[in-house]
Amino acid sequence: MKTERILVTGGTGYIGSHTVVELQQAGYPVVIIDNLSNSDRAVLDGIERITGIRPDFVEGDCTDIDVLRALFAKYTDIKGIINFAASKAVGESMQKPILYYRNNLNTLMNLLELMGPNDVKGIVFSSSCTVYGEPDVNPVTEKSPIKKATSPYGNTKQISEEIITDVINAGAPFKSVILRYFNPVGAHPSAEIGELPNGVPQNLIPYLTQTAIGIRKELSVFGDDYNTPDGSCIRDYIDVVDLAKAHVIAVERMLMDRSDEKIEIFNLGTGRGVSVLELINAFERSTGVTVPHKIVGRRAGDIEKVWADPTYANNVLGWVASTPLDDTMRSAWAWQCRLRERGIM
Ligand code: WQD
Repeated sequence: MKTERILVTGGTGYIGSHTVVELQQAGYPVVIIDNLSNSDRAVLDGIERITGIRPDFVEGDCTDIDVLRALFAKYTDIKGIINFAASKAVGESMQKPILYYRNNLNTLMNLLELMGPNDVKGIVFSSSCTVYGEPDVNPVTEKSPIKKATSPYGNTKQISEEIITDVINAGAPFKSVILRYFNPVGAHPSAEIGELPNGVPQNLIPYLTQTAIGIRKELSVFGDDYNTPDGSCIRDYIDVVDLAKAHVIAVERMLMDRSDEKIEIFNLGTGRGVSVLELINAFERSTGVTVPHKIVGRRAGDIEKVWADPTYANNVLGWVASTPLDDTMRSAWAWQCRLRERGIM
């Protein structure tokens, strides 16, 4: 067991919980802080069933700096932070901008303020491909232009990257690795943890699997009149376990001082653009389960096509998103079936 503890904010969430599993399996002690606003304490049971280690857990809100001060006072061995704690629904952010700016930005600023006094060496920040907006050219590299955000959610990611840059350039005694995710999908192969959205899913895969199992009547495909081969939008769907593994590499990179850079930015994607209709076909082919679906009008704010050039992360981090899409589709389906078995959904 390593001595450096990793603080995972939002660690009972979708990507957070999968990252905690990978951190534990790499030998890191973990403490999670989460306000459970979009997750459930039962996720801790799932993590423990996979790794045999129940992560330390603090229920709390990272926008309250006194809550974080108390956490650092209790856990004096925190040397790295992975910050997932944020509100993340694009549509909701259009309706509740203040909630998004307050939650996402105050959380980050509180963490940055407490890192120096508590001798924390680095923070991994959960960013998003939304910072690129509608790219002029695909695939997207880390040098592709940042476009004006089309939602408060996307804007909080852009502003957060700028805050981190300004704080570190002002001489903060720590480093940061910023990870720009493309579209995280799938679940842990054990089916013990996965994506568990509250209410009606906004993202494609949870809505698709809930339709496949009969919770939803039909999946609406938001538009087939885009300038793409089959008319539906294209994304870079990355397996959540591949994504989680990149976080362990990123935090270790800072703990071990493997880079001279104080700030590094990486695109985390597969490099493969997949359309909505292609994804539905991949799910049906890999699981043998039919997904009733219909074409409807476009969803406001949708990007037409965006996928990553992951070469920089592949070469510098030695990380590749290697899970085949069909395996990811099967893991998403296995998770949905497990939720049904447990009577959760
Ligand atoms: C994917 C594609 C939809 C639902 C958002 C955020 C991004 C990240 C991931 C947090 C689009 C289509 C969807 C449905 C559909 N969020 N779709 N029917 O919008 O690419 O990215 O979630 O980290 O920051 O922007 O993901 O899954 O909502 O949509 O046709 O019922 O599926 O139009 O083309 P998106 P998504």
